Amino acid sequence: MRVIIEPDYEKLSRWAAEYVVSRINAARPTAERPFVLGLPTGSSPIGMYKGIIKAYEEGRVSFKHVLTFNMDEYVGLPEEHPESYHSFMKKNLFDHIDCPKENIHILNGNAPDLLAECANYERMIEEAGGIDLFIGGIGPDGHIAFNEPGSSLSSRTRIKTLTTDTRVANSRFFGGDPNNVPKLALTVGVGTVMAAREVLILCNGHNKSRALHAAVEGAVTQMWTISSLQLHPHGIIVCDEAACEEIKHGTYRFFKDVESENLI
Ligand code: GLP
Repeated sequence: MRVIIEPDYEKLSRWAAEYVVSRINAARPTAERPFVLGLPTGSSPIGMYKGIIKAYEEGRVSFKHVLTFNMDEYVGLPEEHPESYHSFMKKNLFDHIDCPKENIHILNGNAPDLLAECANYERMIEEAGGIDLFIGGIGPDGHIAFNEPGSSLSSRTRIKTLTTDTRVANSRFFGGDPNNVPKLALTVGVGTVMAAREVLILCNGHNKSRALHAAVEGAVTQMWTISSLQLHPHGIIVCDEAACEEIKHGTYRFFKDVESENLI
């Protein structure tokens, strides 16, 4: 696992945006061989999305041959609701880049058959040739996508009940009342994320420091689903200083040291 420690959120976001741009460009995607990108919502990726949009506007990247698969969506929230992940993605990314509509995939939390929707999502990822780079955030309880504590580390796309912790954390987007946050979500599984060829996790702020500790120094456990990243051959966490409060000084120094050398 690589752990990139940036001074603050702005630099973390810039690093992540440039990484995404460089991976897409290195793959030289075409219509026949598109680049497949897994994408998150939440406040963590907003700065990265701004950086990606800027790079697009500067003509440094195109999404014409990029397929996207979002991580999750609430169940029962109308697509046009301002807090749906459909609305979030339009507002923060898709309305500003050249990604064709038909290349964009987001789970439909209003599908008449939610189980079929989840199975079909996995099938579409497989048909796309798998995900090249899956980007994610972390919940304060260490969840990835909506894979709450106790989720199987080999889980695939399915319906999940949100924990009270997550509904409280996300109530800031729903007028401050956890009761307004949907109780269910569709989410890719931990196994779906870990099947990607590369996984990049964004982790910023003091309230993520326990999750970062669990991800980097803890044991692999279903209680901190992000810890499964330790088993991935190409896992990267990019974090800021504020998120490093709970990791050991030696661990901090170790990652700073190897990343500063930049030998490979
Ligand atoms: C939600 C999302 C996760 C996200 C998490 C953290 O639970 N389903 O994918 O990582 O929130 O959100 P934020 O980045 O706003 O802290």
